[in-house]
Amino acid sequence: MKDSIKVFAPATVANVVCGYDVLGFAVNEPGDEVIMKLTGGSGITITKITGDEGKLPLDPKKNTVSASVQHYLNHIGKPDTGVEIELHKKMPIGSGLGSSSASTVAGLFAINTLFDNLLTNRGLVPFAMKGEELACGYGHADNVAPALMGGFVLIRSYEPLDIISLPYPEGLHAAIVYPEVDVPTKDARQMIRSKVLLKDAVTQWGNVAGLVSGLFMKDHDLIGRSMTDILIEPTRSILIPDFYHMRGMAMEAGATGFGISGSGPSVFALTRDRETAESITVQLKKHLSTLNINSLSFVSEVNQKGPVVLD
Ligand code: HSE
Repeated sequence: MKDSIKVFAPATVANVVCGYDVLGFAVNEPGDEVIMKLTGGSGITITKITGDEGKLPLDPKKNTVSASVQHYLNHIGKPDTGVEIELHKKMPIGSGLGSSSASTVAGLFAINTLFDNLLTNRGLVPFAMKGEELACGYGHADNVAPALMGGFVLIRSYEPLDIISLPYPEGLHAAIVYPEVDVPTKDARQMIRSKVLLKDAVTQWGNVAGLVSGLFMKDHDLIGRSMTDILIEPTRSILIPDFYHMRGMAMEAGATGFGISGSGPSVFALTRDRETAESITVQLKKHLSTLNINSLSFVSEVNQKGPVVLD
């Protein structure tokens, strides 16, 4: 049995516009890295966090990585295992790209690998959801499930947990732009209305079903026209600079659909190919710079692997 490991876990685009808390996919970059050592002693220590500008807690009870690793250790009947964790944030916090989820998933994948894969990646999802609960008050799975399992996933049900891996058309790319304004998921969840009108629910579930059908049918147009959110986006888009203008630019440049990634402020477009995705990121970044807003961008296919061991 190895006693140390370095792993990478990917960022994710949750919601995919119409599927609040039920749809998400993983991307190849960015992502976070965790280095984990079994010490032979007792208890979890976070020895180092880089790339977080001092924002994340080193207290193992408050940090999502250590807290979910502790849940895992309790579950396998080894609660006092001595573990040292280094977390290297390679992606912005509060970006809407599943930042806390990438860290948590990296930690869980690391400990499970050190324990010779006692659980499957799918089996780790409930432990990662505990991390999300700590990070934003609710244990949603639409970031952690794709980060752990790779691919495009549907959370068909939370109780009981029922996660479906979805197919997607060849060539599908995501163009992601992160405008550097902070939108904590906790706040972005609190601003949403908790009640919806039946006629709005009808529109929304039509679009969710349309998006899932489009993925199965490998129909980019159906995917695109289903990427409509009448429940959440009208409220959350207020927090994103020039959101509707950026949507217009992306659609004009050939996007099949456009929306908020997770709880924002990152936005993303789906495209049929890499060239279109690259051109969209260049145009959106340029537009944001005219508003004096710095941004980061990423172009990726759907990540199929989920977390991986680096060494
Ligand atoms: N489904 C979650 C939300 C994703 O929209 O709050 C958070 O990244």
